[in-house]
Amino acid sequence: MVRSASRCHYTQVVTQIRLGLAHIDDAPAIAAMSRRLIEHGLAWSWNEERVERCLRNRDCVVLAARDRRRVVGFAIMEFYAIHAHLNLLAVQPGYQRQGIGRQLLEWLEASARTAGIFKVYLELRATNDGAQAFYEKIGYQCVGRKVAYYDGREDAVRMAHDLTVTSTSPAEPQ
Ligand SMILES: CC(C)(COP(=O)(O)OP(=O)(O)OC[C@H]1O[C@@H](n2cnc3c(N)ncnc32)[C@H](O)[C@@H]1OP(=O)(O)O)[C@@H](O)C(=O)NCCC(=O)NCCS
Repeated sequence: MVRSASRCHYTQVVTQIRLGLAHIDDAPAIAAMSRRLIEHGLAWSWNEERVERCLRNRDCVVLAARDRRRVVGFAIMEFYAIHAHLNLLAVQPGYQRQGIGRQLLEWLEASARTAGIFKVYLELRATNDGAQAFYEKIGYQCVGRKVAYYDGREDAVRMAHDLTVTSTSPAEPQ
């Protein structure tokens, strides 16, 4: 569970964020977040149908972070024989920088380790400096660039995380 606190003038509002497996009913919210937070300016490829396919795919794990019932973050990882691929990860703007992205990713990486998978790959938009800094903080390294990967016009940076290497910057206790 992630706890976040924001101070008003006289009171402190404490929000409890719960992580868990996403349900088929979450597909519209997840697809909408992908469109708005990840695919903005590109053709919408992670639509409801594609998210639903992941939710039904036994080789995929779709995680949701919820504030009460509302999905405020999600992550999708696909598991192959000897590596995993992080397809998508996003946290709603008002909930960012509270450790939710890290917790989602660490849950999925723990699942990979349990499955005997020790390498995770991902691609992200080459212009997305914030997300690249986030992944580097977790331990990912840039391993390549894919020219015109998105819509045939925008480059991707490919990153990888070697899960056999112990992180040097563990998450702060929540
Ligand atoms: C990238 C993203 C998922 C990070 O989620 P988050 O919940 O905000 O990340 P965390 O709070 O767990 O961050 C952990 C650490 O990563 C680093 N970090 C996170 N966001 C960062 C940013 N924008 N710039 C620099 N460093 C960042 C920080 O070191 C942070 O620790 P700190 O807040 O104590 O300094 C979130 O910014 C997001 O949803 N962005 C839009 C969608 C996106 O770009 N997704 C990734 C591509 S698929």
